[in-house]
Amino acid sequence: MKITVVGAGAVGASCAEYIAMKDFASEVVLLDIKKDFAEGKAMDLMQTASLNGFDTKIIGSTSDYSKTADSDIAIITSGIPRKPGMTRDELIGINAGIVKDVTENLLNYSPNVILVIVSNPMDTMTYLVHKITNLPKNRIIGMGGALDSARFKYRIAEAMSCPSSDVNAMVIGGHSDKGMLPLTRLATRNSIRISEYLSIEKLDEISEATKVGGATLTKMLGTSAWYAPGAAVSSLVQSIACDQKKMYPCSALLNGEFGLSDLCIGVPVVLGKNGIEKIEEINLNEHELAKLILSAEGVQVTNRLLDNLNL
Ligand code: 2OP
Repeated sequence: MKITVVGAGAVGASCAEYIAMKDFASEVVLLDIKKDFAEGKAMDLMQTASLNGFDTKIIGSTSDYSKTADSDIAIITSGIPRKPGMTRDELIGINAGIVKDVTENLLNYSPNVILVIVSNPMDTMTYLVHKITNLPKNRIIGMGGALDSARFKYRIAEAMSCPSSDVNAMVIGGHSDKGMLPLTRLATRNSIRISEYLSIEKLDEISEATKVGGATLTKMLGTSAWYAPGAAVSSLVQSIACDQKKMYPCSALLNGEFGLSDLCIGVPVVLGKNGIEKIEEINLNEHELAKLILSAEGVQVTNRLLDNLNL
């Protein structure tokens, strides 16, 4: 199993690190445009192999896509990250051109690759990759919901003074502060609804803290977060690489599911060796469905910005 990570910044390097630590890939290629940067990160990571006990070979490349040839899965993290106070949408002008270029280069060397998109604004970048490649929709996956769900579980666990591993919860909708839809109604601690323990006010507070999870960290760190994004990507990639068929909320191209079409947005999907094996059309109540539709409208507004970019 060969996996490429494009972008050796904090998020890309963290993806490579967690993938290597989970030891399911034979090779990880880390690629960046900055001279020697990916090679340096790869070497540093490889020097942890004996300490952390993994056999994945990590190699670095400065813009040489021939090294990525025949990748099974490629993760696109390239582009500029958010600075404090910025929305993910403000990155579109720069990141769309980069994502397009990277996608074309990857497909030249790995025509059968499954693509995982992380660059922001992620739902729109995932949609862009569909538009420029016309690949089967199972092979293009946007990573946002798995990360937002991990942040949601963290907030629930904090409020309930329990371990995050006791919590089962999901965030669907757009990967944006306004678009996220934490499904508090369905969240459980070991199958017991959290609404049995927490007040409506507390549930709203958790929901709000989850939605601004990325922005909160961007303010604290001066740039966007990387550990949880890297860990979330590695989990999705493992489910694909090992054909685990786990369910994660991911940004997927919709064709009528939830009454939505011609956009990518976070919905529960099953990930296996073919990428998106199934979109799970879970039963949402009227209130949740209305919020998902509102979130989709927000994503569509951002998607329309692509039309003015001359890509
Ligand atoms: C975040 O929410 C990187 O968009 C990502 O931290």
